[in-house]
Amino acid sequence: MSKSGVAIPAIGFGTSQLGDCGEIVAKALQLGYRHIDTAWKYGSEKGVGEGIRASGVPRDEIFLTTKVSHEYLRAPDFARSVDESLGNLGVDYVDMLHVHWPTIDNIPLAETMGALAKAKREGKTRHIGVANFNIALTEEAMRLCPEPLSTLQAEYHPYLDQAKVLAACRRLGIVFTAYCPLARGRLFNDPVLADIARKRGKTIAQVALRWLVQQGNIAAIPRSANPQHMAESLQVFDFELSASEMQRIDGLKRPDGRIANPKGRAPPWD
Ligand SMILES: NC(=O)c1ccc[n+]([C@@H]2O[C@H](COP(=O)([O-])OP(=O)(O)OC[C@H]3O[C@@H](n4cnc5c(N)ncnc54)[C@H](OP(=O)(O)O)[C@@H]3O)[C@@H](O)[C@H]2O)c1
Repeated sequence: MSKSGVAIPAIGFGTSQLGDCGEIVAKALQLGYRHIDTAWKYGSEKGVGEGIRASGVPRDEIFLTTKVSHEYLRAPDFARSVDESLGNLGVDYVDMLHVHWPTIDNIPLAETMGALAKAKREGKTRHIGVANFNIALTEEAMRLCPEPLSTLQAEYHPYLDQAKVLAACRRLGIVFTAYCPLARGRLFNDPVLADIARKRGKTIAQVALRWLVQQGNIAAIPRSANPQHMAESLQVFDFELSASEMQRIDGLKRPDGRIANPKGRAPPWD
């Protein structure tokens, strides 16, 4: 729960690289997902909208997130992009709107934050957040934004140390939304995760997701096109990792663990 009062479902469904994903999103909603993550940049917004309509799940039961890409951070471009996303999705509002990456064109942050707040005030989104901002940029965004931010979306999985960023989110009263929570599959051969998974009668994916959500103040958004995996990733609330298991997984962080690090676009990470 953020200081601004938003409760984000702890396990969401990621849709990057899923493209025309109507059937997959409908399946995810039927399996019980109530948090769907998309972005203008993913090209999955139309599929997400189709999936929502096909699922039969009422719109107001779904926490729907989209993002404005870094090309559109000037106020007029930002407003156009938000309208295009709503049109793609076929909805009147989203639940969370993010700035997808910080500017690479020296666009004043105050202008972008003003545009983000305006989308909220116009009812086009219920809540707002940033993604891929470092701690200093997040603090600056919160200072400049006329409306409260509710979350920072950033990469987080057992191979990436995000302790400083998580501590900052807690201090600032915003939720850490963890993307690439399964390190895009890189952790599926990990012997420590395999050992814990075997002892717990769970899968590696479930252990990794449990490690994230058990830390508190974290929502994780795994992506899958496999219904069995989709169902598994939701089953992380029926077991608890011990303190020593949590510590063993903490110990897996690697200096080269970061996956999403586009040259020329990523800010200096914490
Ligand atoms: N804000 C940003 O800049 C940003 C950047 C990256 C990602 N994201 C968001 O975060 C979401 C997740 O990140 P991601 O898509 O990069 O990677 P991810 O969720 O870490 O990993 C996806 C991979 O894990 C596999 N998988 C998923 N669940 C599984 C399970 N239960 N068991 C076994 N394998 C499983 C999937 O394969 P199968 O299809 O075979 O299951 C897929 O290959 C994205 O889709 C997107 O919505 C945001």
